[in-house]
Amino acid sequence: MNDTDTTSEAPFIVIVSNRGPFSFTRNPDGTFDAERGAGGLVTALGALAEKHEVLWVAAALSKDDRAWAEQHQEERANVQGIYMRLVTPSQKHYDKYYNVIANPLLWFIHHELWNIPRLPRITRETWQAWESYIEVNQMFAEVVADSIKDEKRPVIVLSQDYHLYMFPQLLREKVGDKVQIQPFVHIPWPGPDGWRILPEEMRSGILKSLLASDRIGFQTKKDAFNFVQTCRFYLDDAHSHGSRDSITYKKRRVEAHAYPISVDVEQVQAIAAESQTQLLKSQLLQSIGGRQLILRVDRVEPSKNILRGLEAYRVLLDRHPKYQGKVQMMALLVPSRMEVDQYQDYLKDIMAEAGMINAEYSDSLWEPVNIILGNNYHRAIAAMQLYDVLLVNPIADGMNLVAKEGALVNERDGVLLLSEYAGAFYEIGEHALTIPPFDIHSTAEAMNQALQMSADERHKRAIALQKIVQTNDVKTWFNMQVEDAMKSHHAEGKSSEASKK
Ligand code: G6P
Repeated sequence: MNDTDTTSEAPFIVIVSNRGPFSFTRNPDGTFDAERGAGGLVTALGALAEKHEVLWVAAALSKDDRAWAEQHQEERANVQGIYMRLVTPSQKHYDKYYNVIANPLLWFIHHELWNIPRLPRITRETWQAWESYIEVNQMFAEVVADSIKDEKRPVIVLSQDYHLYMFPQLLREKVGDKVQIQPFVHIPWPGPDGWRILPEEMRSGILKSLLASDRIGFQTKKDAFNFVQTCRFYLDDAHSHGSRDSITYKKRRVEAHAYPISVDVEQVQAIAAESQTQLLKSQLLQSIGGRQLILRVDRVEPSKNILRGLEAYRVLLDRHPKYQGKVQMMALLVPSRMEVDQYQDYLKDIMAEAGMINAEYSDSLWEPVNIILGNNYHRAIAAMQLYDVLLVNPIADGMNLVAKEGALVNERDGVLLLSEYAGAFYEIGEHALTIPPFDIHSTAEAMNQALQMSADERHKRAIALQKIVQTNDVKTWFNMQVEDAMKSHHAEGKSSEASKK
C-alpha cells in the first residue's frame, strides 16, 4: 500500500457481524426481496452504511439467505446502497457457534447470568462447539481477506460483538498489518473474575485474538478498563504500563476505547411521524384508555430482568391499591434465541408471572399487565410516544437503546426508570430515576415516585434526556471510530516511512 499521501484518501470500510442488515426472501421467479433486519446493532449501523462506501459481511441465517449467497458466490452485491457478502457455514457448525458458544456461553459470561451451582456445564460437546466457533470465525476471515485483497485505499475492518472474537487474529494472519482491525464489543465486559468460568484455552484464545487488533471499542470506560484488567490478569505477557485504556502484548499496543453507541436520531424521528406508527398509536391509546402507562420494550432476554420488573409491578399494586384500575403495564417483548433452553424457560416464566398478576388483580374493565409478543418496530415507537413511565431495569446491559429511543420520541414527559447496570446510565442516568435491578421493593417505589411526580419535574427531566440523545447521534459513534482508525493508519504509515529512511 502506498502511504505517501493518504491524508485525503477515503477509507474502505468493512463491517463484519453475525446478523446482517437484511434478510432475503426468494420470489417464485428467482429474484430476491431484501428486508431490513431487527436488533440494536443493525438499526445503529444500517443508516450509516448507506452514507459511506461500506461492505457488510454477515452470516446467512435462513434457507433463502443461503440461496442469495449462492447466487452471488464470490462477488459483493449492492443491496439498497450497501455492498453485501454472506458467509455460509454448514447448519451444524452454525448451530454450535451460535447456540452453544456465542449464546449462551459467551453472552452469559458477559452478563454474569449463571446459576453457578448448576450452570454452565462445559462438556465434550462444548469443546466440539468451540471448534465450530473457530471454524465459523475462519470463514468470516476468509471472505473478508478475499474482499480486500486488491484494495488500494486504506482498509478499516469493524467486526462486531462476541460472535467474532477469534476473527481478528485469523484475519491478521491472512492480511498482515496493512489493515486496521477494530472490533466493537456491544455488551458489558466483566472484570477478571467473570472470566474464570471459561476454560483457560478458550479464555486466552479470545484475549490473544482480540489483541491482534489495533483498537477495541467498548460501550463505556468501565468496560474498557475491565478488558485491560482481564488481559493483565490472565496473560503473562500483557502489560498496561499504568494505562487504563491500552494494553501492550507482543510489541503491539492495543487501545481499549469507549465509544458509547446511540440511536439514529433522524431515522427514529421519521419513523415516529409515519402514518403506520400514528395508526398503531391510536390503537394503543384505545387499549390504555385514560390510565397511566408503564411501558417496557425488550427482547425476551434474561439479562433484561423482565421477571423482577413484573414482580415490582405486583408490589406496586399491592402496597399502593390506589393504582388498581388506574395504571397499565405494557410489555412489548420480542422473542429471541428460542433454541437456547434458558430463553424458552424465561419466556414461560414471564407469561406465568403476568398471568398470575392478571388473575389476582384484574376486574371486568381492567387487565393490569398486557404482554404483546412479536417484533414490530413501528408499534414499539408508537408505544414509546405514549408512556408515563419507561421501565429499563436490566441486570447488565452494554448500552440499552430503548432508553434513548424512548427519551427521544416520548410525548408525555414520561419518566425513565433506569438500571444502574445499563451502559446508558453513565450518559443519561442523572435525569432518570435510578433502579438497583435486584431490589424489587425499590423498583416498585421508583414506579410510585414516577407516577406521582409533578408535571414540572417530569418536564425538566424529559427535556434534559431528549437533549442528550439528540446531540449524541449514532453517526458520531461511527465517525469517531473511523477517525481514530484513520489516525492510526497515518501514524503507522509515517513510522514505516521513517524506518525505511
Ligand atoms: C444484542 C447483541 C447483538 C445482537 C442482538 C440481537 O444487541 O449485542 O450482537 O445482534 O442482541 O440478538 P440476535 O441473537 O437475535 O442477533
